[in-house]
Amino acid sequence: MTGFNEKNGILHADDVPLPQIAKAAGTPCYVYAASVIRQQYERLAGAMARAMPPGKQPLLCYACKANSNIAVLSLLRSLGCGLEIVSEGELVRGLKAGFDAGKIVSTGVGKQKREIAACLKAGIHQFNVESIPELEMIAAVASEIGKNANVVFRLNPDVVGGGHHKISTGRKSDKFGMSVEVVQKAFAAAKTMKNVKALGLSMHIGSQVFTVESFREAFEKIPALVEGLRKAGHTVSRLDIGGGFPIVYRDEKLLDLDAYAQWVRDIIMPLDLEIIMEPGRYLVGGAGVLLTEVLYVKETQDRAFLIVDAAMNDLMRPALYDAWHGIEPAQNRSAPATKQYDVVGPICESSDIFAAQRPLPAMKQGDLAVIRTAGAYGFSMASNYNSRPLLAEVMVNGNTFDIIRKRQSYEDILRGEEIPGWLKK
Ligand code: LLP
Repeated sequence: MTGFNEKNGILHADDVPLPQIAKAAGTPCYVYAASVIRQQYERLAGAMARAMPPGKQPLLCYACKANSNIAVLSLLRSLGCGLEIVSEGELVRGLKAGFDAGKIVSTGVGKQKREIAACLKAGIHQFNVESIPELEMIAAVASEIGKNANVVFRLNPDVVGGGHHKISTGRKSDKFGMSVEVVQKAFAAAKTMKNVKALGLSMHIGSQVFTVESFREAFEKIPALVEGLRKAGHTVSRLDIGGGFPIVYRDEKLLDLDAYAQWVRDIIMPLDLEIIMEPGRYLVGGAGVLLTEVLYVKETQDRAFLIVDAAMNDLMRPALYDAWHGIEPAQNRSAPATKQYDVVGPICESSDIFAAQRPLPAMKQGDLAVIRTAGAYGFSMASNYNSRPLLAEVMVNGNTFDIIRKRQSYEDILRGEEIPGWLKK
């Protein structure tokens, strides 16, 4: 069986019972099912393969901000993915996981000099450039170290897309991308620069875009722009159409990938461009759960709190975006949901809550629960808040599992900190 399913009343990841993982790795920990990552990759690549001929297939550059564990990266590399990175740290991870630098694209509004230099030295496929000052910086760094940079310009298509206002990126009030006029200026500016080659465009309208028409609206802005640029004598041979494919957390309308792929075929393919995509959440979100143990059940006059050992520092989506995640017991799963719990962590603030008034079976100290759909933007956004160690990560492959990241020790947490001499006794 693939994914997270119940067998004999116990939740399994593929064929491994979650209590066994809790015993080996401790809680809280993230558990990822390799089978689900494979399945999601095949779904996406399959939809594109059905819509477009073999020679026109996009390069899927996994947006590794979603989950950057090097085991997850290695798996996606082995499936044929390229990589989308937003920092030198992600470049280091990508190279460590064996990605060919020629399949790496660098995005982000604030690329630093040393990051640009590292990407140039590695020989990445392209920089997705978000402003003219950034273009100038890339040209300067490239000339300083004697390299050439391939660049594409990120268009801000001014469309609304994204499951939450904090993860929408394609409105003109957002910091991302450039207007059509600025993109045109950037192409002209690049022509005057020695070490940069402008090759095309990129865009990314947001994340968890379940208003799927927004993709089409954004795509429709591309043909006229490409034609205009070509008429003005510019090369436009690449288009990066970003990520943002939604997944189901609760009852969201799923994106019909075939419809999406057909928009790419009908609107983008006729432009005869190398197409790049940057899926993150879609590939890994449903592949992960956060496994946690009940520390206490606290009944007040008002409500019942299920205090678990995972907290907002481990998974911050509920606190940050009011995100809804399914919560389920890992054992005794046939018990009816007779209780309503506020599921909370140990952190000292009221935003440390995973769910309010959630119907669940009665649970007790020591029981295990999972917070579902936590494979994307879970561990990658975790912090040491309250000096809690970064948690362990586990990958299941069929009937085996590996700890792919050890829980931090307190020495790990304190590494690099110093008490100044004048404060030492
Ligand atoms: N490309 C670019 C340029 C991006 O900024 C992002 C995500 C992606 C691709 C991948 O988007 P995806 O396919 O995963 O939707 N922390 C938030 C999501 C932030 C997304 C940031 N950018 C969350 O937990 O919902």
